[in-house]
Amino acid sequence: MNALEIRNKFLNYFKSKGHSIIPSSPLIPENDPSVLFTTAGMHPLVPYLLGEKHPAGVRLADYQKCLRTVDIDEVGDNRHLTFFEMLGNWSLGDYFKETSIKYSMEFLTKELNIPIEKLSVTCFAGDNDAPRDEETARIWKENGMPEERIYYFGKDDNWWIAGETGPCGPDTEIFYDTGKEPCSKDCNPSCGCGKYVEIWNNVFMEYFKNPDGTYSKLKQRNVDTGLGLERINMLLQGKETPFDTEIFKPMMDKLQELAKEDNIASRRIVTEHLRSSMMVIADGGKPSNIDRGYVLRRLIRRMIRHLNKLGISLEKLEELIDLDIKILGEMYPELVKNRDNIVNTIVEEKDKFVKTLENGEKELIKELSKLKEKNVDTLSAEQVFKLYETYGFPQEVTKEIAEENGFKIDLENFDKLFKEHQEKSRLGSEQKFKGGLAEQNEQTIAYHTATHLLHKALQIVLGEHATQKGSNITTERLRFDFAHPQKVTKEELDEVERIVNEQIQRDLKVTCEEMSYDDAKKSGAIGLFENKYGDKVKVYTIGDFSKEICGGPHVEHTGVLGTFKIKKEEASSAGVRRIKAVLIK
Ligand code: SER
Repeated sequence: MNALEIRNKFLNYFKSKGHSIIPSSPLIPENDPSVLFTTAGMHPLVPYLLGEKHPAGVRLADYQKCLRTVDIDEVGDNRHLTFFEMLGNWSLGDYFKETSIKYSMEFLTKELNIPIEKLSVTCFAGDNDAPRDEETARIWKENGMPEERIYYFGKDDNWWIAGETGPCGPDTEIFYDTGKEPCSKDCNPSCGCGKYVEIWNNVFMEYFKNPDGTYSKLKQRNVDTGLGLERINMLLQGKETPFDTEIFKPMMDKLQELAKEDNIASRRIVTEHLRSSMMVIADGGKPSNIDRGYVLRRLIRRMIRHLNKLGISLEKLEELIDLDIKILGEMYPELVKNRDNIVNTIVEEKDKFVKTLENGEKELIKELSKLKEKNVDTLSAEQVFKLYETYGFPQEVTKEIAEENGFKIDLENFDKLFKEHQEKSRLGSEQKFKGGLAEQNEQTIAYHTATHLLHKALQIVLGEHATQKGSNITTERLRFDFAHPQKVTKEELDEVERIVNEQIQRDLKVTCEEMSYDDAKKSGAIGLFENKYGDKVKVYTIGDFSKEICGGPHVEHTGVLGTFKIKKEEASSAGVRRIKAVLIK
């Protein structure tokens, strides 16, 4: 079996159990600048876990493309990946523990033919926030899991939440025993020695963690499961690392063939980062110096450094990309569709990086000759770091050139500086992640509806070209980007504001209908969300005023919104303006 076959088996199995198959959301979350990348299958489904009705029903299954970059520097070992695919089945207030465990057990043992002896499970041990999950343990037993392979752990292991607040709950994790010797007499699924590998996580999402740290019950009890495709594929093929499976092996072999100085860590880094970069680019990513673009830039540049390390000519990049499209194109047709864009983006970034390296080298030689004049033989940690930060000049290249010229470098202190820098950027990206998922409350819902009113009012005042280009909502304000070639005048803004407030005062009813995308377009609905929900879309209508394709949620009557006030109008990018506005109660 290969990864694509496992994916298909999974989707077919859940289809046969009444689940609708929904498409993977893009890696770059739609309309949500507060989160860098989609990091879990539940991420695009948050509104529905909170009670919003999903157009495809209450039982869903999907594969979701995910990118996690917290461990980017670990890639090169035998297991870490940045991009991965998560298979998931979802119950939105429909079935719960009993059925979910039955399906998981049946799928693993009957469809994938994994002997039950290979499996163990963990359950939530209980604390002040939620009880010990004995129900889950009982259900496992009823499904044939022997008591001695059912473990209990606390929140660190058996509680799932994305970020700090939001929908969450106890989970039960399923582990595969690789057959390796136990690391000690206490060896268990959570010890991390590698004997047990987690394959599937079933989250029983019935809680919401509030910003004050307390937990409330959600409107409905959900199931969110995630099964890591690369991992299960590796285990079923009896391989030691994902790099030995068909997803990565042909690229690993090709790099070995081309390498003048082979090393396996570099080949893994090139293979892994190339795949991730291509997936991000296919979903609309562009390298830059901030946020998402910066992550992509790091992936591409790290890959290039390791190609250099392997002694592989950068002229080979296009050939390597084409090889990867051949390997992955059937699983991800978007790679085939975006082939030229992928090649151009990566080659352009390569050219920039090569320039960076040239400039950095010039700067370094200058520094070294200054040191020579002063009779100093060591390049300081600050100098090495400055080359890294300003020129993106890798520390190992600095070291090589310094040594060629008879200098040492202060690596120890550089490592310290570098770790501090890494910690800062890690905190930065976690901070981003925090805001994104959880904030779905009365206030953000009100802003969501106000955004629709604003969108329509802008089109009335400025013209139909003023379509949405982006939106971001917090509990404090809405931010809306739209197409418009010049500054919006004070009079126009006043008129927009007046129209929105008029619609609020009319206390219009907000209604929702599901229809096909084509019907939605025909009915005159505006909106950005092409293909977001597969066959069907939701259309929100606000009285006789606005009709827009959207996932929701929204208020029921516009009367509750209060007074709408535009705080700021400014340029966002070429041809795009940005409005920040608030609702005053
Ligand atoms: N949300 C859980 C995870 O990401 C299960 O899908 O592991």
